[in-house]
Amino acid sequence: MQEQSTEASDPYYEARRAEIAALAERCGPDDPIPTVEYTEQEHEVWQLVCGKLSARHRSDATTEFLDAAECLAIPQEGVPQLRDVSGRIESLSGFRFRSAPALVPFRQFCSGLADSAFHSTQYLRHPNTPFYTADPDMLHDVVGHGNALASKRFAHLYRLAGEAAARAESEAALQFIAKVFWFTLECGLIRERGESKAYGATIVSSYGELNHFRDADIHPLKLESLAEVDYDISTYQSILFEADSMNQLEDTVGSFWDTCDDNTIEALLAGSAARLVQVP
Ligand SMILES: [Fe+2]
Repeated sequence: MQEQSTEASDPYYEARRAEIAALAERCGPDDPIPTVEYTEQEHEVWQLVCGKLSARHRSDATTEFLDAAECLAIPQEGVPQLRDVSGRIESLSGFRFRSAPALVPFRQFCSGLADSAFHSTQYLRHPNTPFYTADPDMLHDVVGHGNALASKRFAHLYRLAGEAAARAESEAALQFIAKVFWFTLECGLIRERGESKAYGATIVSSYGELNHFRDADIHPLKLESLAEVDYDISTYQSILFEADSMNQLEDTVGSFWDTCDDNTIEALLAGSAARLVQVP
């Protein structure tokens, strides 16, 4: 039996991805987002994944995310141009996309956020794995982050994360800001009407993880608890953090990013290390 091609073993896919990445590499931060002529197969992947995700969002995503997604109304029948989605988000929340060839380093990514710009890829995952991608692709960036960024409240949190990273000088502080970003804007939950609902881009853009996130060990959102756990971005999350409400997310995480610096983060991490030492 012939093996199915995957991202790692398909030279055609690799060449296509490199071709789209090259457009972003040639694009300066203030240049217009390049146009990509998507293939029929890419339009089919987009339509398949978007259709499945939108149906799941109605039952599994937070109200703030759903309302923003409704306002943004990302086309589902085929891959939209990133520039068009960016213009729409900008009119809703002031955020815009910047074309990225691949995952960008966290400090560079955050410098974009502080400037109300989100680095988004323009390539799609391999057609043989429509419901899984190891790396962020345009479905993750646009359906996951883009929908959230259409909300003024989420957009403000993204901006605060960017500004916090810009203030951080030590690697430990930057890593902790990245961890808070991971457990909130990538994988965060909010309790609504007695149920866990997702707003984190990694979960809301993954059909597989939408099926599994309620099986995770779900903790109340507290920075001290978050400091005590590790995470692995390459698999479904076994530990997640849930806010009581959008207000609590803003009070806890928004206020932290708004005021944190190397000293406050160092004190928070020292407190969590002391608690870990006390565990028998
Ligand atoms: Fe992401």
